[in-house]
Amino acid sequence: MNNELTGMPRIGDKAPDFNAVTTTGKLNFSDYNQGSWVVFFSHPADFTPVCTTEMSGFAKEQDSFFATRNAKLLGLSIDSIHSHIAWVENVRKNTGVLFKFPIVADIDMSVSKLWGMLQPGESETAAVRAVFIVDPMGVIRLIMYYPMNVGRSMDEIKRCLIALQTSAENSCSMPLNWQPGDNVILPAPKTLEALDERVNSGLEMMDFYLATKSL
Ligand code: BEZ
Repeated sequence: MNNELTGMPRIGDKAPDFNAVTTTGKLNFSDYNQGSWVVFFSHPADFTPVCTTEMSGFAKEQDSFFATRNAKLLGLSIDSIHSHIAWVENVRKNTGVLFKFPIVADIDMSVSKLWGMLQPGESETAAVRAVFIVDPMGVIRLIMYYPMNVGRSMDEIKRCLIALQTSAENSCSMPLNWQPGDNVILPAPKTLEALDERVNSGLEMMDFYLATKSL
């Protein structure tokens, strides 16, 4: 298998930088990422049904959710800029939904390869449905991969962004099925003194290593 196609960035890695042509003009990833979260997602192809539902889902949340959470959207597929523009216009004409966020025209596959969006067992020529959530320091905090035939969950993408931001702001973790507003998990004590404090804290806990609190 061609290694060039299977390089995969990992959680905790610095987001690989690139320059690209997009539907909103030329874009440098690190400049775009400067000071804000970025949700970077790939889709297999323009003018395809599942992708149209997904991109429309992102577009419907671009101002009301992502912008209010200091998160920018960035799409990508291995299509030409002309195809992207025609598709964006087609969806706008048919549904009134406008994809305002940039979509990378990755016709030479360079960005898809750099970001591990090509998974050759699924397709050697089209990107899978990947989602990377990158923090404002340019570090990849979460990665999701979906195959060609399963659309992503917008609720889950939104939940993950809120969870990552809440965790970054409060140094906490989120339990199974956490939803915004639920209790969060506190870091386990790292010294005996901290252990004593934890045990006497009055916090809700199963034991000293699993304590939760409301924010
Ligand atoms: C779709 O978006 O519908 C799709 C794209 C590529 C392969 C299969 C489905």
